[in-house]
Amino acid sequence: STEAQTFQQPESAVQPAAPASKEITILYGSQTGNSQSIAEEAGEKLKGQGYDITLSSMDEFKPKALKKVDQLLVIVSTHGEGDPPDNALSFYEFLQGRRAPKLENLRYSVLALGDTSYEFFCQTGKDFDKRLEELGAVRVHDRVDCDVDFEESAQEWIEGVIAALNETQDASAAAAATAPMGAAAPEAAAKPSYSRSNPFRAEVLENMNLNGRGSNKETRHLELSLEGSGLEYEPGDSLGIYPENDPQLVDKLLDEMSWDPDEKITVNKKGEQKTLREALLSTYEITVLTKPLLAKAAPLSENKALHELTKEGNEKKLREYIDGRDLLDLGRDFAPWNVPASEFVNILRKIPPRLYSIASSPSANPDEVHLTIGTVRYESHGRKRTGVCSGQCAERTESGDTLPVYIQRNPNFKLPEDPDTPIIMIGPGTGAAPFRAFLEEREEIEAAGKTWMFFGDQHFQTDFIYQTEWQRWLKEGTLTNMDVAFSRDGKEKVYVQHRMLEKSKEFYNWLLEGAVVYVCGDEQYMASDVHDAILTILQNEGGMSEQDAIAYVEDMQQQKRYQRDVY
Ligand code: 2AM
Repeated sequence: STEAQTFQQPESAVQPAAPASKEITILYGSQTGNSQSIAEEAGEKLKGQGYDITLSSMDEFKPKALKKVDQLLVIVSTHGEGDPPDNALSFYEFLQGRRAPKLENLRYSVLALGDTSYEFFCQTGKDFDKRLEELGAVRVHDRVDCDVDFEESAQEWIEGVIAALNETQDASAAAAATAPMGAAAPEAAAKPSYSRSNPFRAEVLENMNLNGRGSNKETRHLELSLEGSGLEYEPGDSLGIYPENDPQLVDKLLDEMSWDPDEKITVNKKGEQKTLREALLSTYEITVLTKPLLAKAAPLSENKALHELTKEGNEKKLREYIDGRDLLDLGRDFAPWNVPASEFVNILRKIPPRLYSIASSPSANPDEVHLTIGTVRYESHGRKRTGVCSGQCAERTESGDTLPVYIQRNPNFKLPEDPDTPIIMIGPGTGAAPFRAFLEEREEIEAAGKTWMFFGDQHFQTDFIYQTEWQRWLKEGTLTNMDVAFSRDGKEKVYVQHRMLEKSKEFYNWLLEGAVVYVCGDEQYMASDVHDAILTILQNEGGMSEQDAIAYVEDMQQQKRYQRDVY
């Protein structure tokens, strides 16, 4: 027959199961050391069976790394009135807490140590066992509760665990062997891929002010959940947020223009409808006036002054007018308007997303993204105003709320591929954000390269954001050098570039060793002053002419040894 042969996948094709992992994490929580020694023994026996073992005390294990574990053994004692041992406490609290991750891919077993003379016998082990199950993890072997004479029961548990794990290994090997050739895994259920045009609604997990009382500044630290989004990022990337306008401003505008908040407005070409109030909140930009906007607004106003302002020859006046004003000002200043809302909103721009440099490393915080957002507040033309997105984050965003977000890749702000390469990070104010991500990453991968952070802000007391984190990294060696410049603590202003110049020689030596220099933060003043400082260092320490120094920096830029994320 010439009939074309068609290959059909049998309906009940066994999917070639991913081979069960050979990696096992063993975590112990020990007051007296019993759990630890059982953990070590279990680890040795499992190694003998060909498993890769990660053995760690619970307090040395980053709870967030749990999402990356697929087989877990918990060995934990109970003390006092059913309390976890000290070195289990933080991990215990993390798991019990609201922010504990879903653990559907985790297989586990618990060995509990305790003392039957106490009322809450083996309570901590019981709690772990129950909680892991609640979080979706699969128990591969039943918990064993040991009394003070634990040796025998502990051995039985170890044997039982080994048998259970070996069984799944065999099963997955068999499944892989019998899987029909060429039967590819079915297309992953068409998951929407989130992007700028299709943002993901990320839940806010944490939102706090990093500045102390009395500071001139407010810097919010936000933690968002990317769980279930499929979104991935690297240190150096940014997060885009679609903000909402201030409802008070929207309501004043509706009032000023005598518009009906419930009027239905078509907001895009697809014909999607929103109420006018909703559209002014989330679709249209109302806080910025532009020249083209005023030109389009003029015919809609019955006020001659607006016609006058938008006439040729009046550009300077127009620019002065729009500076620091918003749509509410426009509405008030050029009433009366004689136009239906549906027509007016047609001349408005769509609200653009705001980009923030991500302050976290995804390997240190699976499924999370952290941001460092300086709240923008100012007064102009007699009114107090706030930045749209930073104001929303500071004033109207709580844990549990969601924000529409997407990942903005930044290939021009990336850690060197070689973890041994030294890096110099210059990030005053919120410019520190990506460097927190860099150091989290370098800590996570145990990079050997030297690191040097320059940080600056107004006051040591109130503005040293992430202070404890830098200090811990310094102590533990993730951070080699740190120099800080608190500009308003002394008689004279000191900035990061002054600290660079003070350490000229060392800075130059790092450059000779191939250090990559990163600058993040204010573009207008800081970044150019820092740039000049680098040129000065090259001239003073490297004996270069100004021309040579400029060429050297250009060469660094070419080689991606000088990267900037400035705004
Ligand atoms: P200042 O506001 O006291 O002048 C973060 O905002 C820090 O950057 C503050 O300490 C701020 O100092 C400082 N800063 C302002 N202008 C700067 C510049 N041109 N170069 C470096 N840092 C600057």
